[in-house]
Amino acid sequence: MALASSPRLLLLLPPLQIILLLLLVLAAKSSAQERILLVYCGNTNYTSPSPYESNLDVLISNLTASTPNFTSLYSTVTVGNTPSSQIYGLAQCRPDASPATCFDCLNRSAAAAAGDVVPTFGGGDGCPHRRSASVRADHCVLRYSDQNFYSQPEESVYLPLMNTANASDPERFSQRVNALMEKIMPEAAKAESRFAVGVSNSSTLEDIYGMAWCTRDLYSDGCLLCLQQEAGALRTRQVGGEIVKVSCVVRFETVAFFDLSAVPSAPPPELGNAQAPSAAVENGTGDATRGRNHSKNLNMVWRNWDQRTTLRVVDQCLGDEYDAKEVLRCIHIGLLCVQKESSQRPSMASVMLMLSSYSFMLPAPLMPGFYIGGPFSSVFESLTSIGEIEAHVSESTKTPESENIVSITDVEPR
Ligand SMILES: *[C@@H]1O[C@H](CO)[C@@H](O)[C@H](O)[C@H]1NC(C)=O
Ligand SMILES: *[C@@H]1O[C@H](CO)[C@@H](O)[C@H](O)[C@H]1NC(C)=O
Ligand SMILES: *[C@@H]1O[C@H](CO)[C@@H](O)[C@H](O)[C@H]1NC(C)=O
Ligand SMILES: *[C@@H]1O[C@H](CO)[C@@H](O)[C@H](O)[C@H]1NC(C)=O
Ligand SMILES: *[C@@H]1O[C@H](CO)[C@@H](O)[C@H](O)[C@H]1NC(C)=O
Ligand SMILES: *[C@@H]1O[C@H](CO)[C@@H](O)[C@H](O)[C@H]1NC(C)=O
Ligand SMILES: *[C@@H]1O[C@H](CO)[C@@H](O)[C@H](O)[C@H]1NC(C)=O
Ligand SMILES: *[C@@H]1O[C@H](CO)[C@@H](O)[C@H](O)[C@H]1NC(C)=O
Repeated sequence: MALASSPRLLLLLPPLQIILLLLLVLAAKSSAQERILLVYCGNTNYTSPSPYESNLDVLISNLTASTPNFTSLYSTVTVGNTPSSQIYGLAQCRPDASPATCFDCLNRSAAAAAGDVVPTFGGGDGCPHRRSASVRADHCVLRYSDQNFYSQPEESVYLPLMNTANASDPERFSQRVNALMEKIMPEAAKAESRFAVGVSNSSTLEDIYGMAWCTRDLYSDGCLLCLQQEAGALRTRQVGGEIVKVSCVVRFETVAFFDLSAVPSAPPPELGNAQAPSAAVENGTGDATRGRNHSKNLNMVWRNWDQRTTLRVVDQCLGDEYDAKEVLRCIHIGLLCVQKESSQRPSMASVMLMLSSYSFMLPAPLMPGFYIGGPFSSVFESLTSIGEIEAHVSESTKTPESENIVSITDVEPR
């Protein structure tokens, strides 16, 4: 664990409550003011004055002053040389930010950590006197801790922001969003900047602008997993959405929210038809319709697997004429064969072994690479169950002031 062992998000107050925060916003506020999205504190304090405190001051001014001057807009710094005073820091700005934007963002994030700036969606007093803090804003992320957190994904809290307006053709829109995200997430994971954006243009439907962005300390596979889990929670039938964690962010909108010069030179023509997702299994052998059926089926299988209702996917014409254990094992193996990372797929020889012997232990499958998430995927199961998520969703829709849910403070339709 990078931060303290039972940390909590100060935006929300029931202590120890596992975090779910759902905010429904009509639109991303497009003002110049940097939005402070997430403030996440460790739960151990330093005393004042102390060497830790002065090291933290040095660290913050170092990070905010130097990071904007690097072309990468990224730096990590460690200050202090005794175990009790040592502090690890990371600052990173979005690659399309100017140095001035980067400085302002880090400066404001540092102020939010200190409790001098209230997060955009309300709540929280920042992390004054805490030994660890993480702040995510639109254009930057700032982290510090007494523990070395580099390369460890921090995903224990997340902030979903949803635009509640439906797309004009939700089915088609959702396919295009998924195809766009499937394209840019691996690009981001591979890029040294851990950042990728893309545009899906359409002459008749909304244009879609997508972004996938991890902190640069993550390895590619940690980054990709972080992004995929977020993408599974996007509501892709609505005209905008963003999932924010400390270590990664995914976002799509129908208006440009990043510098278009960051888009690779040849933007793809209209994506869609689920061709991109199906390519992972089909690898060009099937036509679009077949691909779509496959990914629909796979979605359904994964959803049931994930919700422990796997046997529901069995064709009803079989009646009771099957061995549940055998069916479960076949589905399990099937899911292993469609893992995103080829290194996680079993070889044909292992598959034979898996099928022939129950004593061969199977690893738990992860969400398949091209899973097209429903409104919420239970990949967040470690946080909360699906039922709870849905309860929160409807609760927040009806009573935005409810205690556990931060109210909508910043709604500005466009
Ligand atoms: C840490 O400080 C905060 C206020 O800054 C206080 O509310 C909290 O109780 C302190 N925690 C410990 C463990 O001392
Ligand atoms: C920040 O820290 C690094 C490494 O400790 C050091 O090289 C650099 O000069 C510092 N920069 C500032 C502005 O303090
Ligand atoms: C960053 O660059 C600006 C302008 O080029 C310069 O004034 C400033 O001293 C630099 N800061 C650091 C810490 O190098
Ligand atoms: C933000 O920048 C201002 C002006 O450069 C500086 O006075 C202030 O201390 C900075 N705040 C933080 C938290 O770094
Ligand atoms: C969006 O569509 C869903 C179902 O298709 C409907 O229930 C909901 O009311 C719509 N939302 C808006 C804001 O129109
Ligand atoms: C398509 O996207 C590009 C940005 O990549 C934009 O410049 C262009 O105007 C868009 N075309 C249409 C038809 O919307
Ligand atoms: C499989 O897909 C990869 C990547 O899209 C491609 O390079 C390769 O040629 C495909 N193989 C076949 C047999 O279509
Ligand atoms: C895809 O599913 C539809 C019905 O859902 C069916 O009519 C069609 O034949 C299927 N296509 C293929 C290639 O399996």
